[in-house]
Amino acid sequence: MAINIKTDKEIEGIRLAGRLAGEVLDYIAPFVKAGVTTGELDRLCHRYMVDAQGCTPAPLNYAPPGYQPYPKSICASVNHQVCHGVPNDRPLKKGDIVNLDITTIKDGWHGDSSRMFIVGEASILAKRLCRITHECLWLGIAQVKAGARLGDIGAAIQRHAEKNGFSVVREFCGHGIGRSFHEEPQVLHYGKAGTGPELLAGMVFTIEPMINAGKAAISELADGWTIVTKDRSLSAQWEHTIAVTATGAEILTLSAGAPTNPFAAA
Ligand code: MF3
Ligand code: CO
Ligand code: CO
Repeated sequence: MAINIKTDKEIEGIRLAGRLAGEVLDYIAPFVKAGVTTGELDRLCHRYMVDAQGCTPAPLNYAPPGYQPYPKSICASVNHQVCHGVPNDRPLKKGDIVNLDITTIKDGWHGDSSRMFIVGEASILAKRLCRITHECLWLGIAQVKAGARLGDIGAAIQRHAEKNGFSVVREFCGHGIGRSFHEEPQVLHYGKAGTGPELLAGMVFTIEPMINAGKAAISELADGWTIVTKDRSLSAQWEHTIAVTATGAEILTLSAGAPTNPFAAA
């Protein structure tokens, strides 16, 4: 199966869904505080997506082959949870780091983005992990342009993570996105530069590195969804949906409150 190329008109659809996903993250940011539960954050995001934005939360009842339908509208992964954390009734506490992953469907198009949030003041290690992982996302994005190879993205991410003493999760990757939540290609966050399919203008996919403070190995919790680090070390993730252009990448999940490129000249 080939990687499908989107027309400008199709990318316009993903751009709208993507901006809305970014705006959900902007909206929820001030609520991420000690004492709030991830279940409450889920309810707030759900209402915002459905009532304010008129879109559908893609995670709710999402059931890829081999999975039970996902029970909530967002993913909330705290501390050693790597991804797909199911919102629950445990309050966040000072020092927690939490990834909120939002995927909207608007007019049939998907937009997928996640950010890290720090509850109060976190440890130096936790802050560094969040920062380096954000840098990994942007170094991956910097590789994107027509003519580059898919492996260039993973190689740049892996290099930065490992140079800083962290490890890259292997089992989950970025993905093509459009009318479906997950489509080809698989965007690995590790690998070799100069390998893999050539990037062509009009490809749309996510980059969403999951970086662990300890070892790369993961396990799945009994809920069938939540992924944690096997060694229970901290894990961080950042995600954007991007379109390949002739000269670079267009980030489709930007919003007013999205953190900017950490490597941009001041
Ligand atoms: N948003 C996740 C991703 O970036 C996928 C979540 S699947 C869910 O690919 F069912 F857990 F929501
Ligand atoms: Co994604
Ligand atoms: Co996501």
